[in-house]
Amino acid sequence: MLNIALPKGRLGDKVYNLLSSIGYDCAEIYEDNRKLVFENHENGVRYLLVKPSDVAVYIAHGAADIGIVGKDCLDEGDYDVYELLDLDIGKCHMCVAAKNDYVEDPDRPIRVATKFPNIAKRYYASFNREIDIIKLNGSIEIAPLLGLSDVIVDIVETGTTLKENNLSVFTKILPISARLIANKSSYRFKQDTINELTEKLEVKLQEVKK
Ligand code: PRP
Repeated sequence: MLNIALPKGRLGDKVYNLLSSIGYDCAEIYEDNRKLVFENHENGVRYLLVKPSDVAVYIAHGAADIGIVGKDCLDEGDYDVYELLDLDIGKCHMCVAAKNDYVEDPDRPIRVATKFPNIAKRYYASFNREIDIIKLNGSIEIAPLLGLSDVIVDIVETGTTLKENNLSVFTKILPISARLIANKSSYRFKQDTINELTEKLEVKLQEVKK
């Protein structure tokens, strides 16, 4: 069996539909239940539904062979995994955003609220700007509204969450999309199976682009 870690949530649905379209389906996954492991013995896959930020952890530790993860989660950690393919879905940007009328005070550190402290630190360190990190786990957009932070570093997809909370993008830090990743020893021992799946995905992605 090929153990595939999928991110739960909005990226997960897109990813599962993509895998299903190339023959790696598992109909039970659509059923309304709280199961986290789904198997299809015919096509030899076992799906593990995990939190998006945990996908790379499962892969790095070999608890899953391959997985699909946003570049945001991948860059935030320091995982010893192979990045095999950019799936061109789940596209968004890592951005600095703030209240519409925010003006930076150059004389003091910027208070940055984020789920991605490492990405934020790297970004501001790249031009030697001093910051104070406020690590949050969700609903980051509230932080500047309540004066908890000056700015946020977060992913922006449609921009709706920012707009509805009177925030705007100040800087786009990096483009994000979903990546296929593999555990290094799984890749060695299950290379044929993993390459077959990767090649089918590549063909599908080319078809979609046409
Ligand atoms: C993410 C992100 C933003 C929102 C951006 O949050 O942190 O809040 O999506 O999407 P948009 O530009 O399309 O509005 P998520 O839905 O993962 O929930 P969270 O607030 O719990 O992190």
